[in-house]
Amino acid sequence: MLVVFAWGAAWGAAPFSHRIHLQQNLECVQCHTAAARSTKVEDNLLPDRQVCRGCHEEAAIPAPPSTRLSKFSHSLHLRMGNVAPFLASAIDHQDYLQPPGDIRPHLNTRNPCQACHRGLEESDQVTRAALPQMADCLVCHTQIEAPFSCEDCHAKDAPLKPANHVPRFMNDHSTGKLNLDKTTCALCHGRAFTCMGCH
Ligand code: HEC
Ligand code: HEC
Ligand code: HEC
Ligand code: HEC
Ligand code: HEC
Ligand code: HEC
Ligand code: HEC
Repeated sequence: MLVVFAWGAAWGAAPFSHRIHLQQNLECVQCHTAAARSTKVEDNLLPDRQVCRGCHEEAAIPAPPSTRLSKFSHSLHLRMGNVAPFLASAIDHQDYLQPPGDIRPHLNTRNPCQACHRGLEESDQVTRAALPQMADCLVCHTQIEAPFSCEDCHAKDAPLKPANHVPRFMNDHSTGKLNLDKTTCALCHGRAFTCMGCH
């Protein structure tokens, strides 16, 4: 099928719908041609405009999304095959360190890309929900020790402390007055933290 659109000012503003395009039986890698070989976060994995020209006369490709990661290799992780069953199992066994939201049903996928990029077949506009969250990574990267383990994925001097970690937090956290929810600490401190021997 060949659909040809002349994109004037009105078309230029149309959001990109993965739902519509996946219904055309297009594979992720037909558009995101650079993804499978990418070894660096800095690589631009969005499609080249040329890819759209088979069906559209004009196409606008935005800038790639920002990320707080400094290291990630698509190539290395895709060589492991489909990681969705690992993530699904962590959620089922309550080992997943963040609220999983609505991602669990999407993890029955056979598409290795959709293990980390979920819900696109229903998406009419790209949002950050299409990107993996930190707990996905920690299913396999299980060593958690702030601040050292953070540098495996984030830049060395990245500001990663939550806003409540003000200078007095070390003293205040033990008073019981802060009403801290222990389960929210696990993402960055693990579940079995000893924290300098006090716990
Ligand atoms: C017809 C081409 C096409 C196909 C097929 C396609 N994409 Fe995309 N994808 C795009 C375009 C264009 C954008 C940029 C859209 C935007 O930012 O508005 C994009 C953006 C993305 C993003 C960035 C999300 C963000 O937060 O900015 C991810 C991740 C992604 N696609 C993954 C996938 C996966 C996984 C598949 C297969 C299930 C897929 N795409 C199939 C064209 C495509
Ligand atoms: C295989 C053909 C095909 C390719 C390749 C393709 N598209 Fe489309 N595109 C379609 C079809 C079909 C529609 C839906 C037309 C409709 O329903 O009105 C569409 C609609 C759109 C729309 C309007 C979306 C909406 O909500 O109505 C945008 C924007 C768009 N495409 C962008 C792109 C971009 C950007 C690329 C390249 C990354 C691309 N398309 C590649 C077939 C294609
Ligand atoms: C193990 C998880 C994982 C898998 C599997 C995975 N990705 Fe990603 N993807 C990420 C992460 C993390 C980011 C954000 C960091 C980055 O840009 O490298 C990302 C970013 C992206 C982006 C937007 C980034 C940009 O800079 O342009 C696209 C597009 C994308 N991935 C496509 C794909 C496609 C296509 C596949 C399958 C061939 C795939 N991904 C498989 C984790 C994954
Ligand atoms: C299914 C298990 C699994 C998942 C999920 C996973 N990784 Fe990995 N990752 C590995 C393995 C195995 C290696 C290779 C051994 C090593 O270096 O630890 C690796 C290596 C890495 C490396 C070092 C690679 C290099 O180039 O030096 C980084 C950085 C990384 N992963 C980031 C991430 C991020 C970010 C995510 C989440 C978006 C993620 N990983 C999700 C298993 C996983
Ligand atoms: C194995 C990889 C990995 C490790 C190790 C890691 N993170 Fe992350 N982190 C991620 C990913 C993936 C995201 C989502 C980032 C994005 O797309 O911008 C993230 C996001 C974050 C965010 C932003 C959360 C938000 O909702 O905006 C903070 C803060 C953060 N990490 C702190 C830490 C701290 C502190 C450590 C060390 C204890 C750490 N991270 C270790 C992968 C990792
Ligand atoms: C100097 C000793 C000390 C250190 C170091 C310390 N804590 Fe605590 N923490 C305490 C004391 C004392 C309490 C109150 C009694 C209790 O619940 O064990 C407490 C309470 C807590 C609570 C429960 C708070 C509440 O309001 O119910 C959490 C969660 C916690 N600490 C996490 C941590 C984490 C994570 C670290 C490391 C990053 C850490 N602590 C480091 C002494 C310490
Ligand atoms: C988004 C990640 C993140 C979350 C969530 C988080 N912390 Fe931290 N926390 C850090 C980082 C990063 C440090 C700094 C470690 C260092 O530099 O030694 C830290 C340090 C601490 C310290 C040492 C004092 C300080 O301010 O440096 C305590 C105590 C602490 N955290 C307790 C907690 C408790 C209790 C929770 C849950 C209520 C929690 N943290 C949740 C990232 C996090």
